[in-house]
Amino acid sequence: MELDQVSQPSKLLLFVLLLVAITIPPNEALKETKIVFFLQDVSSGSNATVVPVTGITGKPWSFRSFGTIFAVDDPITQTPDRKSTPIGRAQGMFLTSALDGSNVLVSISIVFTNAEYYNGSTLELQGISKQNERYKEISVVSGTGSFRLARGYATFETIYYDDRTNYSIIRTTISLSA
Ligand SMILES: *[C@@H]1O[C@H](CO)[C@@H](O)[C@H](O)[C@H]1NC(C)=O
Ligand SMILES: *[C@@H]1O[C@H](CO)[C@@H](O)[C@H](O)[C@H]1NC(C)=O
Ligand SMILES: *[C@@H]1O[C@H](CO)[C@@H](O)[C@H](O)[C@H]1NC(C)=O
Repeated sequence: MELDQVSQPSKLLLFVLLLVAITIPPNEALKETKIVFFLQDVSSGSNATVVPVTGITGKPWSFRSFGTIFAVDDPITQTPDRKSTPIGRAQGMFLTSALDGSNVLVSISIVFTNAEYYNGSTLELQGISKQNERYKEISVVSGTGSFRLARGYATFETIYYDDRTNYSIIRTTISLSA
């Protein structure tokens, strides 16, 4: 009888702990979804996928020139090879937003078009891309379809650049909290 009374509070504690364990599965906070793909980016010539549409009068319209706005529609592929499986398009806008030309505001949608890779869904990317840094990090602010209420971040790394054609391949890693 006496022994039972002593164990009563610890039974309650055990029950509470069990309840907490059921409501908050372990490692839930650490869960992360990663998606990697490649942007095929051409910034000059007749097949350009990034095109300056306006800028400050009398100044060059370029990535290094404050106030330049670009329209962008880059194909997205599964591997660095531009002929690899198409995943979708990166569509939107770049704006050189630092007076010294170091930062570009990125505001693009990742529009998925491949049946095996989230076709019909989109991710919204927005933030400052620091042009002088190897890994550029911007926010994933939301999404649609499979990515409703998504949040996370994206990193861009230029892994290939051809200065004769201004063609770059940009590895993009999307990290989403699950
Ligand atoms: C543009 O693309 C077409 C079709 O793929 C190709 O024939 C042409 O050579 C390209 N032009 C340039 C300047 O890359
Ligand atoms: C992707 O989805 C659209 C409808 O959202 C559909 O029209 C299209 O055929 C689909 N494409 C592929 C490759 O599944
Ligand atoms: C590549 O881009 C640079 C900087 O925008 C420009 O000066 C150059 O003319 C471009 N190259 C070609 C082949 O168009």
